Amino acid sequence: MNLFRTKALSSFTRNIQQQKLQKNLGALDMLLLGVGCIMGTGIFVFTGVIAAKYAGPGIMISLLLSAIACAFCALCYSELASTVPFAGSAYTYAYTSLGEFFAWLVGWSLVLEYSLAASLVAAGWSAYTTGLFKSAGIELPQAFTSVAADGGLINVPAMLILLFLSVLLVRGTKESATINKILVGVKLSAVFIFLLLAGPKVNPANWSPLLPFGFSGVMTGAATIFLAYIGFDCVATAAEECKRPNRDLPIGIIGSLIVCAILYICVAAVLTGVVPYQELNNAEPVAFALRQLGYNIGSALVGTGAIAGLTTVLMAVMYGQTRIFFAMSRDGLIPAGICKIHPKYGTPHIVTIVSGILVAVIAGLIPVDILAELVNIGTLFAFLTTAIGVLVLRKTAPNAHRPFRCPAVNFVAPAAILCCAYLMYSLPIQTWIRYSIWTGIGLVIYFSYSYRHSTLGQEKEESLEKAV
Ligand code: ALA
Repeated sequence: MNLFRTKALSSFTRNIQQQKLQKNLGALDMLLLGVGCIMGTGIFVFTGVIAAKYAGPGIMISLLLSAIACAFCALCYSELASTVPFAGSAYTYAYTSLGEFFAWLVGWSLVLEYSLAASLVAAGWSAYTTGLFKSAGIELPQAFTSVAADGGLINVPAMLILLFLSVLLVRGTKESATINKILVGVKLSAVFIFLLLAGPKVNPANWSPLLPFGFSGVMTGAATIFLAYIGFDCVATAAEECKRPNRDLPIGIIGSLIVCAILYICVAAVLTGVVPYQELNNAEPVAFALRQLGYNIGSALVGTGAIAGLTTVLMAVMYGQTRIFFAMSRDGLIPAGICKIHPKYGTPHIVTIVSGILVAVIAGLIPVDILAELVNIGTLFAFLTTAIGVLVLRKTAPNAHRPFRCPAVNFVAPAAILCCAYLMYSLPIQTWIRYSIWTGIGLVIYFSYSYRHSTLGQEKEESLEKAV
């Protein structure tokens, strides 16, 4: 068995020639895809909750530390995304650097990350939408708006939004990117409305004490809020649909991370400046803070913006997920039939619909806390592997064309590895157990199906036979 067979960069280019995705996206699309994918439950839900529970006003520092960890990962991502600009992101990078077995593990983790993130954000979307209906005087039945663990039966709005977006994604990247732009605009407007209305009302006394839970609280906050930055990697998954990946990918990845980090820290500063941090432990802290200040219409506007924001995150996460499946099935690791490209829309329609139905079922039935913890661990593993992959590829393919080179790679990549390892280590034991079960299932599939059906494996066998 050769578990570490790697894809040569050149063979990769040749392989994908038969099944190409349309190249529709430019730098601005990539940047907006990034902001669309990143800014969601992190800013609209978790900033307040984590301030109240772990970090106090020190949430600003938590956000900064988390952003720095993500920036190290983003630099590594950008190098590989520009060197290997094909669908699949970390999965594809692992295939070219660490070999098929690690690629499978990363791909499998990314499937977990993207699927559960989609379900998680859909649950947030459902909560905000239900809230908006409520403020309009329409009470939706709890049995059909929350999962059993939260006293309901099934979360129908979460399921419906996921199915609707799947259909949209099948219809094509360009249309989806256009809708994404509009929704990102609405989301950013909501954030600015909040900053403009609440900013002048900041009372610096609320920032004291800055670290009510000490520095360890800040670190717990940083590990927990990491989820808020997940999504910049979505940009990398769109590499193949990008007009000029060499330039547009790094702009999309690093640019969107910087924009989000700045806005998160501003929102956190204003949020903890206008309301004592102890009061922020609720599902809609941003709208709540505005209501506290007497801005009821502003609060409704921001609530609507949050729904738009969560929708873009959903769309981008689902988009990323289908592209991972697409890349894995194209490599023969999962059945090839499901990655067929739609003759009219040029999108992998079967995998989009199948995964849309799966994440809808998950969102309809599983509580968000279980989803959230697994999203973090799957992502961190993918980031960690990518950082290792950058170092390995610098050694194994030193002359490969690297339109974007990670600066100070010997510092940045190890820093990314250490940050991810530390954050993974900080996650609870139950998360590790669930993640191990998921990985175990992945290993069974790999050894019973994928290893034998791998396109790369078959190519290698053929060339061996020819040589004999
Ligand atoms: N970063 C995404 C969010 O905050 C997952 O919702």
